[in-house]
Amino acid sequence: MTQIFAHRGSAGTHPENTMMSFHEALRSGAEGIELDVQLSKDGQVVIIHDESVDRTTNGKGYVKDLNFDEIKAFNASHKFTKQYGKTSIPTLEEFFLWFKYTALICNIELKNGVYPYPGLEEKVIGLIRKFNLQERIILSSFNHYSIVHCFQLAPEIEIAPIYSNGLFMPWIYARSIRGKAIHPSIKVISDSMIIESMKAGIAVRPYTVNSEAHMKRLIDIKCSAFFTDFPEKAVRSRKIS
Ligand code: G3P
Ligand code: CA
Repeated sequence: MTQIFAHRGSAGTHPENTMMSFHEALRSGAEGIELDVQLSKDGQVVIIHDESVDRTTNGKGYVKDLNFDEIKAFNASHKFTKQYGKTSIPTLEEFFLWFKYTALICNIELKNGVYPYPGLEEKVIGLIRKFNLQERIILSSFNHYSIVHCFQLAPEIEIAPIYSNGLFMPWIYARSIRGKAIHPSIKVISDSMIIESMKAGIAVRPYTVNSEAHMKRLIDIKCSAFFTDFPEKAVRSRKIS
């Protein structure tokens, strides 16, 4: 069965990367949650997609330049089109305190392509181990050095490279860096590549799959999983396929 991962929680219907969107992901019947992490100035692992808080909150500035107390004060539902109550940017620890009681899987994307965030890998792995969640976590990044570093630190945790440019035989590349999966953009992966990769034992989880046509296509070929901003729609689509 194709697994469904709620992208940034359920970013299509709820403020992205907030506890509201994670609760919605669970309610939707998705198997997994995808979220993005960065480090605050004082070294807290916070869940946010952009390097700055400007787009998703009523605050201003770069995550790397703000202490967690300042970040916590911003409203992360402020810019969302539909009005929700106030909610703040969660820490990874806050997320785990809830997540550990669910049966969900979680893909943590390390957002260290623009700023390196020294120590991010160690902190994320430390938290995963603290909550004993190794078997329910996949670590991914566009920064493939970072996931190789994760593998060196914690070979028991699955890693997966994310990419948005064409890769020739991506399953061979994935294996060469000890990945068990690839996370390609839906724009650069063909059905035959998905099938070949899965045959080679490398799972394929394309992002971000929001159209019904793409969802059906992936479900029909039994693609391992996909990321979507609309998990409820994806679960419905899978039921009728
Ligand atoms: O991990 C897949 C996807 O989340 C990568 O793109 O920009 O939504 O983080 P982005
Ligand atoms: Ca992401």
